[in-house]
This record gives sequence, structure tokens and C-alpha cells, in this order.
Amino acid sequence: MSVRRLAAEQPESFALTPENLAWAQKTVEKFPAGRQASAVIQILWRIQEQEGWVSEPAIRWVGEFLDMPYIRVLEVATFYTMFLLAPVGRKAHIQVCGTTPCMIAGAGELLKVCRSRIHAEPFHPSANGDLSWEEVECLGACVNAPMVQIVPDTYEDLTAESFGKIIDDIEAGRPLKPGPQTDRFNSMPIGGARVLTSPELYDGSMIGQGAGLAAARDAIAAREAAEAAKAAEAAAAAAAPSGDPAPAKEPVAPAVKVQAEADKEKVPNQVDQSQPASDPAVRPDAGKEQVAESGEKK
Ligand code: FES
Repeated sequence: MSVRRLAAEQPESFALTPENLAWAQKTVEKFPAGRQASAVIQILWRIQEQEGWVSEPAIRWVGEFLDMPYIRVLEVATFYTMFLLAPVGRKAHIQVCGTTPCMIAGAGELLKVCRSRIHAEPFHPSANGDLSWEEVECLGACVNAPMVQIVPDTYEDLTAESFGKIIDDIEAGRPLKPGPQTDRFNSMPIGGARVLTSPELYDGSMIGQGAGLAAARDAIAAREAAEAAKAAEAAAAAAAPSGDPAPAKEPVAPAVKVQAEADKEKVPNQVDQSQPASDPAVRPDAGKEQVAESGEKK
């Protein structure tokens, strides 16, 4: 826990803009009579958005506005580290996460960039007053470490180079791209999705097929079987000798099949089995051998 004190130098006075004052009055009305102090955090945050930081005159103003003791507002402002108690950079105050996952992933390099490009010490505005920085604890984007926050956005998957470019863009007034500074989408695995990739999960084909895992497994198994059959067919076609492809065989209808079996049984009676057949064409089992041979060749 850091020591949090009000800045040594304070402005003479504080006032909300007319728009923010109207917003503050409306916000207080949301709470029951006598409970207006509940709006203290919201109003302090709006003050910080307006001024860039929370000054002592602002804290006193909130105490009067919400009819609560000044010390209670001071307690809130000094307890929550999101409230900045000293002036910060005009264009941006950069919060660098220095907790373990970010530090392992390179936050130390980002801190070096802050020290060399902004100021050697945190909470000190840069020479031109545009930027300031501080080190903070985990900001909840550890999976995209290392990262920084420039309220209200976060900038993730940073390197010293990409962080330096963000600083260049702020200085030049160029728009920033929040989120990962690499080509990954949000916190997806680097290189793309590795799970939940089955198209059936997204094409609506599983709707109405029953609930849960069993339906998903059936749909996925059916697709994989179809894909495997297609691949086997393609492999067989590729392995076949070149030339005119043999016409595809029509599936044999059951009635035809029965007749063919019956004809086959008749063949031995029509051929003299005592003589070895020199011509394979006249042997009753010639067709079977051919099939076996062609099967081996395949
Ligand atoms: S450790 Fe840096 S965001 Fe969590």
C-alpha cells in the first residue's frame, strides 16, 4: 500500500463546469434523502475527468455539495488509488502494470521507456507537461501482458517498440488503437483459436438436436467421418493409374445381388471341374482371383 498524500501545491479554488454540475445534481437525486453521500465516488471521478486530478479544494467542494464531513471525502480520495492526488500529464497519464505476470512478460522494459521518455520519477509530468506515468498493481489483463492503462482504455501485448509508438501517437495527437498491439483478437491464443473450432458450433446445425455434449459429439463425428471418406476417395483417385477413369460402379440392388449369388452357384455345374482350367476365363473362381489380384495391386 503506497502512502497517498495531497499534493504540496494546490489551486486556490475549484468549480465544476455547468454541464458537470447539472450531471452531479442529477446523480445525487438517484439516492434516497439523507443518503446523498453515496454519490461521493462518482462525483470525485467526474472531477478527475474534468481536471485530470483531485485537488484539496475539490475535496472540500464535494464535502459541502454532499453535506458530508470533509475528512470522509478525503478518506475516500486517498484510499482508492484510482484517484490521482497531484497534477499529471495534460495529454495522458500512463499506468504501467508491474505485477508478476506483466513483469515476467516485459513490464520492466516499459518502465525503462517511461523513465527515458517521460520522467525519471513517477507522477512527474514530462518536460512539456504532456505525459506522466506511474507503476500500478494488476489491472486484470494479465493474459495480454505486459500492458498499460491510459484511462479509459488498456493497451496490451506491448513491447518497448510498440509502447514507444503509442507515446509518439499521443504526442502527435494521433488516434490510438486500444487492446492488443499485435494481430491477435482480444485474448485469443497467439496464432489463432485452438479449441471450439468445429463449424457445427456456429452454423446452427446443432439447433434442435437435443441438448449438450452428446449432440455435439454426434454432429462432429458425422462431419469427421464424411471428411475422412472424402479424403480416402481423393487419395484413391490420386493413386489410380492415369487414363480414362473407370466408370463408377453402381451400387448393387439387393434383388440383383441375390440373383448374382444364385448364378454363381450354378457355374460349377456347367464347367468340368475334373480338368484344370488353363484359361482363367473359364474357371468358376476366375472372377474372384481377379478381384483379389486387383485388390492386392491397389
Ligand atoms: S499482472 Fe498485469 S494486468 Fe495482471
